[in-house]
Amino acid sequence: MSDIQIARDSGVLEIRFNRPAKKNAITNAMYGAMADALESGAADADTRAFLFTAEGDFFTAGNDLVDFAAQSSGAFNGPRHVGRFLQRMIEAEKPVVAGVQGHAVGVGVTMLLHCDLVYVAESAKLTTPFIDLGLVPENASSLTLVERLGHARAFALLGLAEPLLGPDAAAYGLANAALPAAEVETRARAAAQALAKKPAESLRLTKNLMRNRERLLLRMQEEGELFAERLKSPEAAAAFAAFLGRR
Ligand code: COA
Repeated sequence: MSDIQIARDSGVLEIRFNRPAKKNAITNAMYGAMADALESGAADADTRAFLFTAEGDFFTAGNDLVDFAAQSSGAFNGPRHVGRFLQRMIEAEKPVVAGVQGHAVGVGVTMLLHCDLVYVAESAKLTTPFIDLGLVPENASSLTLVERLGHARAFALLGLAEPLLGPDAAAYGLANAALPAAEVETRARAAAQALAKKPAESLRLTKNLMRNRERLLLRMQEEGELFAERLKSPEAAAAFAAFLGRR
C-alpha cells in the first residue's frame, strides 16, 4: 500500500497520508506523489476540489528526519520534490480542504495555512519545532503564521515550539472548527464535496482574489535559501543525530 493514497470521488481529489507506523512523516517520494496529484488535479476539469486526510493518530509528523539527515550530510543528492509540492499548494486555484484528525508537526502545520478550509480535532496539537531542529520556518510560514495568529502567538509556535491546541487553532482563525477526532474526516469531506458542486469559475476567481501568491512564493523562496543553508549547519546535524540516536 502506498504511503500516499489518491482517490477521486464526486469531483474531489483526496490525498491521504498513509504511513501511520511512522506517524505519517513525509518522505521525498511522498512529496513527489502529492505534487503529482496536485498537478493532475489542476489539469483535470472533473476535479473541483482537493482534500487532505490522514490515517492513524497523527495527521503528519512533518518532514521525514531520516531524509533531512541524509540531505544534511550530503548523502542525498537526487531531485527533491518538497519545493514542487509547496509551490503547487500555493498555486492551487481549486479549493483545498484539510481534515486534521490528529497531531501535526512542521510542514503538516504550515501547509494548513495554504488550505482554504481546515477542520481540526479538538485533541490535536500543532507544533512547528523548526528552531529546535536548527532550521528556519518554511512554506512562507514566517509570513502566514504571523498574519493569521499575530506576532506574539506565532512566535510562541516558532520560537518556543509551543503546541497550538485544536480549539485554539479554531479560535485564532487557523481552522474553521475543532471537532471530536472521529468527526473530522467526515466534516472535511462534506465541505470538499460541497465546494465541488459550486460554480467552478466563480470559485476560482474568488480564491484568486483572496490569495496574494506572488508575495507567498517570494517569501517561500527567501526562507528556502536560509533553510537549505541551515540543513547543513552543525546545529541541524546535531538535532537530526539526536532524533535518530534516541533509542
Ligand atoms: N521522521 C522520521 N520518522 C519519524 C518522524 C519523522 N519526522 N516522526 C516519527 N517518526 C517515526 C519514529 O522514528 C518511530 O519509528 P520507529 O518505530 O521505527 O522507531 C515512529 O515514527 C513512531 O514515532 P515515536 O517517536 O515512537 O512516536 P511518539 O508518539 O513517541 O512521538 C513524535 C511522535 C512525532 C512527537 C516524535 O516522533 C517526533 O518528535 N518526531 C519528529 C517530528 C519532527 O521534528 N518533524 C520535523 C518537523 S520540521
